[in-house]
Amino acid sequence: NTKHIHRSGWRCPSNIALVKYWGKRDFQKPMNPSLSFVLRNAFTETSVELHKDGDKKVAYYFEGVESPFGERIENYLNHVSSQFTWINKYNFRIHSHNSFPHSAGIASSASSFGAMALCLTELDFMHSGRETDSFEFWQKASELARMGSGSACRSVYPGFSIWGETQLFESSSDYHAIPLLDGVHPVFSGLRDAILMVDSGTKEVSSSVGHRLMDDHHYQRSRIAQAHQNINELYLALLTGDLEKFIAVVENEALSLHAMMMTSNPSFLLLKPNSLELINRIRRFREKSQIPVCFTIDAGPNIHLLYFQENEPEVKAFIESELLAFCENGKWIDDRIGTRPERL
Ligand code: PMV
Repeated sequence: NTKHIHRSGWRCPSNIALVKYWGKRDFQKPMNPSLSFVLRNAFTETSVELHKDGDKKVAYYFEGVESPFGERIENYLNHVSSQFTWINKYNFRIHSHNSFPHSAGIASSASSFGAMALCLTELDFMHSGRETDSFEFWQKASELARMGSGSACRSVYPGFSIWGETQLFESSSDYHAIPLLDGVHPVFSGLRDAILMVDSGTKEVSSSVGHRLMDDHHYQRSRIAQAHQNINELYLALLTGDLEKFIAVVENEALSLHAMMMTSNPSFLLLKPNSLELINRIRRFREKSQIPVCFTIDAGPNIHLLYFQENEPEVKAFIESELLAFCENGKWIDDRIGTRPERL
């Protein structure tokens, strides 16, 4: 029970991309711009304590138990240590837990590295006596999160954010995400995400392998062009509240991500029969009811059903009566657009 010297703790949300990051350039820079929103109920809480006891660089406890993820964190710290002279002077004691179950099929790397990066940034700003609630603070945290897991850089801002250079914003960057704070149509503050669990098993192909397969992908150039076009159209839909456009772009992106996987060399397939069944049912429901619902998909078989607050009763009834039969053990997660990270 030794005394620690410095401590920082953060809760950081997970995020789901609507325009997908798939493929890298250089070190942790995206092949194309992406756009996502943070979730409210899916988050990681992490605390970092710096101390000088013992000789272990990183002791990482996940949900109270020392975890091998500590090795990935240690590699990450080695990677970023050239930016922070103080890193080498301390050992790290890290405690982390997620709000969602381990096997929920929600990617935890975005919220984990988001929270870790916020802690590191705060420790660094405290170390040099800088203001920790500045624009620079969030930007630095985003950049550091990106070094751990690309998509994590979009988890440090509330609501929607964009990562990667795009003609939409002068301030957009491959190094960090930027928030879309102003001008988003109010309908999107009621954005809901029902995560339909098709399969909670570990993925057959990791996203780092998937990113690499974009390096010499036959469709690389058209995928990059498509992402730029989709981000332009989606941004316009977000400003104007054009739900028809929103739905068209979001579904096109989800299926394009999986089309890239199916057409890489070697190819792979993460969707399951039940994923396709859910997609078809969501589309049929939309046609019949005229209620604006659509799906997006991460690098896995689970389906994110997106809808809006005002349609909650009908959509929840639809989920229960028609969709749960295609979910693993009838499991789904009730989530929605979230806010910024919080200090613990
Ligand atoms: O952050 P990574 O390297 O795990 O990549 C995530 C890629 C997708 O989740 C499939 C898309 C995205 O933009 O988040």
